[in-house]
Amino acid sequence: MAILVVGGAGYIGSHTVYELIERGEDVVIVDNLQTGFRSLIHPQAHFYEGDLRDREFLEHVFEQEPIEGVIHFAANSLVGVSMKEPLEYFDNNVYGMIVLLETMHAHNVRHIVFSSTAATYGEPERIPIEETDPTVPTNPYGETKLAMEKIMKWCDPAYGMKYVALRYFNACGAHPNKKIGELHDPETHLIPLILQVPQGRREAISVFGNDYPTKDGTCIRDYIHVCDLADAHIRALRYLNEHEQSATINLGNGEGYSVLEIIEAARKVTNHPIPVRMEPRRAGDPARLVANPEKAKNLLGWEPKYTDIEKIIETAWNFYTNAS
Ligand code: UFG
Repeated sequence: MAILVVGGAGYIGSHTVYELIERGEDVVIVDNLQTGFRSLIHPQAHFYEGDLRDREFLEHVFEQEPIEGVIHFAANSLVGVSMKEPLEYFDNNVYGMIVLLETMHAHNVRHIVFSSTAATYGEPERIPIEETDPTVPTNPYGETKLAMEKIMKWCDPAYGMKYVALRYFNACGAHPNKKIGELHDPETHLIPLILQVPQGRREAISVFGNDYPTKDGTCIRDYIHVCDLADAHIRALRYLNEHEQSATINLGNGEGYSVLEIIEAARKVTNHPIPVRMEPRRAGDPARLVANPEKAKNLLGWEPKYTDIEKIIETAWNFYTNAS
């Protein structure tokens, strides 16, 4: 039997594939390489290049492979682009999910672990955020992920399909093997951009807004290591096998760091002054996003291994310096 990882050539998908293979699982990857990278694909995984929305292609994969469970990462995930191209985001993300669930249903595959996001909450009313808090996305990206969660929710009573939706906060860091890590083109995420300064690829890091109602005026986020996320996906699959119950779960460390604190930590890791350039706020950025991760601990027995922000940044730094 095999686990299908849709989007297994992407950042979090590739780390989950490495973890699955390390634990002896057979892994099938589907990825259209639109935002994924061939270099991130595990050599032992069975890779099919194609688009989730292509029914015939997906049908072929399910006919060829003994798939028993699915982990779904394949989606567009840039908040800013989603504001400009909402239809593209709904088509790729929501329609892709429909085709995937239809194909799973047709082949009697009933378990799916889904890569959701803190962006489903929008601007939170309280910190830390719990799974039962209101979900009012402030951008189309978060709205598509919430819609995808809701589609799965209604497939449960109708078809007996069980899901775990994992709402991650800010994924970061890289595999300690230094072979895989965070790659995006274009890069928009804070930690990879900061680390481009000591790599000599950028002169300074822009800080988007220092007038937020936070301790130093910059946005607060909950940074969670990608290997801890990968571990949670595998635990979620096991949870579905053991409990046959759907769930929606936050994944974060439960601790918030400001943008300036992250830059300071990166200075310590890289021994580089990393100059800062103050810029206006970026549209759609909530001031603070911090998870309450208790449900993940209780239901999945999950405990993040990377809790030190400098250690987390160091894994990313090791990946970039190894790759360059
Ligand atoms: N930031 C800067 N300068 C930069 C880049 C980012 O100051 O050059 C700031 C942002 O304004 C934000 C923080 O750093 O305050 C983190 O920004 P990221 O772009 O790294 O991450 P986001 O919090 O915007 O988004 C991430 C994921 C989304 C997901 C969201 C949910 O990228 O996919 O978390 O919390 F939806």
